Amino acid sequence: MALTLALTLLALVLAGAAQGKEVTKFCKCTCGQNATIIELTRFALTHLPHASEPIDVDTLMPNVCMNCTRLLCGTAEPQLCDGAAVDEEIVPLCFQRDSLQDEVIVCGFLALVVGLLAWTAVRSHVKPVAERLWAQYGYAAVASTD
Ligand SMILES: *[C@@H]1O[C@H](CO)[C@@H](O)[C@H](O)[C@H]1NC(C)=O
Ligand SMILES: *[C@@H]1O[C@H](CO)[C@@H](O)[C@H](O)[C@H]1NC(C)=O
Repeated sequence: MALTLALTLLALVLAGAAQGKEVTKFCKCTCGQNATIIELTRFALTHLPHASEPIDVDTLMPNVCMNCTRLLCGTAEPQLCDGAAVDEEIVPLCFQRDSLQDEVIVCGFLALVVGLLAWTAVRSHVKPVAERLWAQYGYAAVASTD
């Protein structure tokens, strides 16, 4: 009963987490020893500290990873290849990270569910033992007092 409930809860939480996840995408630009990470959000792209020219966020692709290019890296961080060997070139890499808040919530639920399962398992093992002990010694103790 408690086990079924816990498993149902687990399934619901995982389904919900997979569905409503807000992900932020990032573009990592590497050039030799230098690397920089650009957050691919409208706000971050219009507030780049070193951009050589403003980035037109209205031209971003729906899949913003498509805009994680050498061109974007070069505009956002013009000095990226400074001091690097002449044959070094910019290598862009798009990646995403789940929001931390989501992870905390999901981990919290998982901990709760695992705790519930553990408690159920322990209880179902402890209860018969406790009952047997009670049957053996408890009744005897009660019986011996009267
Ligand atoms: C994003 O990519 C599209 C297609 O390659 C391009 O037309 C557009 O200018 C890019 N936008 C930015 C801000 O780099
Ligand atoms: C890249 O590295 C060189 C020296 O190694 C440095 O002068 C330059 O400022 C760096 N660029 C960035 C964007 O960190």
